[in-house]
Amino acid sequence: MPAKSLARPYRSVLYIPGSNARALEKARGLPVDAIIFDLEDAVAPDEKAAARTVLAQALAEGGYGNRARIVRINGLDTPWGVEDLAVFGMHQGVEAVLVPKVNRAADLDAVAAVTDKPLWAMMETALGMLNAAEIAAHPKLSGMVMGTNDLAKELGARHRPDRLAMLTGLGMCVLAAKAYGLVIVDGVYNAFKDEAGLLAECAQGRDMGFDGKTLIHPAQVAIANDAFAPSEAEIGLAHRHIAAFEAAKAAGQGVAVVDGKIVENLHIVTAQAVLGKAQMIAALSE
Ligand code: COA
Ligand code: MG
Repeated sequence: MPAKSLARPYRSVLYIPGSNARALEKARGLPVDAIIFDLEDAVAPDEKAAARTVLAQALAEGGYGNRARIVRINGLDTPWGVEDLAVFGMHQGVEAVLVPKVNRAADLDAVAAVTDKPLWAMMETALGMLNAAEIAAHPKLSGMVMGTNDLAKELGARHRPDRLAMLTGLGMCVLAAKAYGLVIVDGVYNAFKDEAGLLAECAQGRDMGFDGKTLIHPAQVAIANDAFAPSEAEIGLAHRHIAAFEAAKAAGQGVAVVDGKIVENLHIVTAQAVLGKAQMIAALSE
C-alpha cells in the first residue's frame, strides 16, 4: 500500500512540553524533521491551561519551517482533552493531532468527529498492540508513535538494552503501519546523555523498519538523523543494483548479481526507495 504521508522524512521527531517557552523557541533552529508539541505527559496538571496558551501563541507565530507540526492532546477521558481539541483541532499552525493511549479504532472516531486534521496514534497500551491492525486501518490515521515507557509500565516489564519485552508490540505495530501505508516512529530513549545507548536503539528501530525515533532532548537529534538516513554505502549499493539490473534486462535476463548476491525486481523497488529518501533529506537542506 502507498504511504499516506511520507512526503517528508521522519527521522527525528522531537517532543517539546507545550508549557516550555524556551524549548518552543529553541526548536525553531533545530534540524528535526518533526515536532510533537506535547500537552499530555510532559505537562503537569496545574500547567495544562497555561500550556495551551503558550503553545497556541508559539504556533501562531510560526517559524517552524519544513518541520512537521503535531500536537499531542490529552485523552478525551481526562479533564483537559476536550478543550485541547477545541483549541488545536482547528488551529492553522497544526498539521496533525496525536491521540494518546489509543486502545481501539473507536478512540480515534471521537477525535475525528471534532477535527478535520490527519490523526496520529500513540501506541502504548497492551490493548493498543492487540488492536494495532484495526487502529492502522482508520481512514483518518497518518502515523503511529510508539509509547514505550507507558507500554513497559503496563506490562510490568524491565527496560533492557535489547528491548526484549517491547519486541512483540513494536513488531505488531510496524506490521500494522506498513500494511496501511502509515508513518511509524519508535519510542524515546530516556537516558538523553547516553549517546552510545541511543545509537544502538536507533539502529535496532531502523533495522525493524521504523521511519525514525521520538526524541526528548536536542542532543539526540543528530544521532537519529544520521541513523535513519540511508548511509553512503546504502546509496552506492542502490545505484549499483539499478545499474546491474538495467544491464541484465538489456541482455534479456530477469535477474542480476551484485557482490555475489541476487538482484531481482523487488530489490530495485527497495533501491529506488533508498534513493528517494536520500533525495528527500538532501532537499531539506536546500
Ligand atoms: N525541545 C527543545 N529544546 C529543548 C528540549 C526539547 N525537548 N529539551 C531541552 N531543550 C533545550 C533547553 O531549553 C536548553 O536550551 P538553552 O540551552 O537554550 O537554554 C537546552 O536544550 C539544553 O537543555 P538541558 O539543560 O540539557 O536540559 P534540561 O535539563 O533543561 O531538560 C528535560 C531536560 C529532559 C527535562 C527536557 O529535555 C525535556 O523536557 N524534554 C522533553 C520531555 C517530554 O516532552 N516528554 C514527553 C514525551 S516522553
Ligand atoms: Mg505515554
